[in-house]
Amino acid sequence: MNFEKLTGLGIGSWGLGEDPKKKKDEIAAIRYGLDHGLSVIDTAEMYGDGQSEELIGEAIKGYDREKLFLISKFYPYHATPKLERQSLEASLKRLGTDHLDLYLLHWRGSHRLSDTIRGLQALQKDGLIRYWGVSNFDTADMQELFTVPGGEECFANEDLYNISERGTEFDLQAWQEEHGVNFIGYSPFNSGKGNTIRITRNLKIVARDHGVTPHQIMLAWTMRNGNVLTIPKASSVEHMKENIATQKFKLTDDELRLLNSDFPMPTEKTPLAVI
Ligand SMILES: NC(=O)c1ccc[n+]([C@@H]2O[C@H](COP(=O)([O-])OP(=O)(O)OC[C@H]3O[C@@H](n4cnc5c(N)ncnc54)[C@H](OP(=O)(O)O)[C@@H]3O)[C@@H](O)[C@H]2O)c1
Repeated sequence: MNFEKLTGLGIGSWGLGEDPKKKKDEIAAIRYGLDHGLSVIDTAEMYGDGQSEELIGEAIKGYDREKLFLISKFYPYHATPKLERQSLEASLKRLGTDHLDLYLLHWRGSHRLSDTIRGLQALQKDGLIRYWGVSNFDTADMQELFTVPGGEECFANEDLYNISERGTEFDLQAWQEEHGVNFIGYSPFNSGKGNTIRITRNLKIVARDHGVTPHQIMLAWTMRNGNVLTIPKASSVEHMKENIATQKFKLTDDELRLLNSDFPMPTEKTPLAVI
């Protein structure tokens, strides 16, 4: 069973670092988050072909590394012991650090899970990563992973999770809880330009009652049970500030019932949604 539980709010970074004109604001947003209690940053070698990691490297300069929890991911076609090490070394260089806290297989590919795990264990043994995990794994993938030697060491699985994509609530989240695997929910606003979730009348009512925006309600909703780490991406201090403020209020049972009527819980297994 894992002893370190990942919950609450982290910082997403897909799309950051790709436009030089936006860099200053993006760094300011990340630093605002770190200065106001956030510590988890999620990135990947894929994001902007390393540009997101470079931006984060710049943003975290001068911060106490021990207080940060850095997550990165490697491509499925790098999921062998040799290529994982190469990918990791490049990520560490871009991030300007000597280790990652968590290293994730970005999604399932064609390499054998046993080889992928063997490589990750070696990186762990060398102190280059503290934990390893997976992303975009469904319940059957997790079950299969646990049949592979070392598979039960998986620290986290990162999947799409927001108020309009609740499929993982059917069985995956409970399975992970039972097996001590942290659940990281990505794209709490369903990605895009942050307007890909229908702003229903009930979302507006609940937002108005709290004096916040519907987006803040969506974010508070993903954190409502205290068992998920949610990682919104914000390119401005303004958005980061709003996201941080969502940690301060709690949705009531009545409000959750209202929201549930617009965005119902899954009643049957559906294929894992991905972005
Ligand atoms: N493991 C995976 O396969 C996977 C897949 C997708 C995402 N992820 C991770 O999850 C993170 C988040 O997902 P995402 O980037 O796809 O999308 P997201 O966080 O669901 O949405 C980002 C959008 O929401 C906007 N936004 C942020 N805060 C807001 C606020 N308070 N009010 C209104 N709009 C707001 C952002 O605008 P601004 O940019 O203008 O602030 C951006 O347009 C990623 O960055 C990445 O780290 C992982």
